[in-house]
Amino acid sequence: MDQFAGKVAVITGAASGIGAAMARRFAAEGMGLVLADVEEPLLDELVAELSAEGAEVISVPTDVSDATAMDRLGTAAFDRFERVNVVCNNAGVSGSSAPVHELRAVDWEWVLGVNLMGVVHGHRVFQPHLMSHGDGHIVNTASVAGMTAFAGLAPYHASKHAVLALTEVVHSELAAAGSTIGVSALCPGWVATRIAESDRNRPEQVPDPLVADPVEAEAVREMIRDFMAGHQPPEEVAGLVVDAIREQRFYVFTASDWASAIAERHADIAGARNPRPKGSMVEETAG
Ligand SMILES: NC(=O)c1ccc[n+]([C@@H]2O[C@H](COP(=O)([O-])OP(=O)(O)OC[C@H]3O[C@@H](n4cnc5c(N)ncnc54)[C@H](O)[C@@H]3O)[C@@H](O)[C@H]2O)c1
Repeated sequence: MDQFAGKVAVITGAASGIGAAMARRFAAEGMGLVLADVEEPLLDELVAELSAEGAEVISVPTDVSDATAMDRLGTAAFDRFERVNVVCNNAGVSGSSAPVHELRAVDWEWVLGVNLMGVVHGHRVFQPHLMSHGDGHIVNTASVAGMTAFAGLAPYHASKHAVLALTEVVHSELAAAGSTIGVSALCPGWVATRIAESDRNRPEQVPDPLVADPVEAEAVREMIRDFMAGHQPPEEVAGLVVDAIREQRFYVFTASDWASAIAERHADIAGARNPRPKGSMVEETAG
């Protein structure tokens, strides 16, 4: 897809971070927008901002882990615009960082529900439509966490590995079907967003077991905010996504400094070598 003006993009997780940056960039390219998120006030602010600049944009409050809500997102998009061209399955949460043996079933259900099933529903609802007209592109937000495995955040790593695999399968299936639509796996490194504050969207039925002391919890949040703020602006990521759609590029990396960690992991697999025991993603990559 090399023309953007007059076309339509659906973006999940559009209220913040990478999703909001993609919305602003697509609007600047002259696209109509369907923005979905669970954070309604932020979503409404973004719709007001983009409408004031002349964009045709609607918001559809949507929990991407909910199959029925995603069906409603499709209905709202097709009612408003008839044709959708770009779908960014982007909503995500970082989830709990407890070791695997301490995680509860609900910790897994939350992260896999949003990060993996949200993408699955996006394909289920929109891919047949895109294939029927042939002028479109799907961008799934995976992560370099889908190609590496550091200690902690097991549900997050597992969800992003699954999104990457799903996206590669779709790439092959589109080729087999002779489809002209494209698919990309967006694999960001650290980007300055609120992903590390995903607890703000923690469902009631998934209370955070780790935050017994509110003062300590706030100190940890402050540290995370500072750490994230120093990284790549999401606007740069949005620009790379536009380039990748234009060039039908499958992998969209945002930073080169993860290449050695990815190469190490794949060399271990190919060589049937025991992996080096690793610390957390922050410990291993912050330096
Ligand atoms: N920021 C990074 O360093 C980084 C790195 C790799 C991958 N990613 C991925 O980028 C994507 C976007 O995250 P971000 O970094 O912009 O973080 P962010 O927290 O700023 O934005 C994520 C958005 O997803 C929304 N969301 C959460 N749960 C939802 C649900 N159930 N239904 C609908 N929307 C929901 C949030 O409300 C938020 O607006 C995520 O998939 C994330 O895993 C981020």
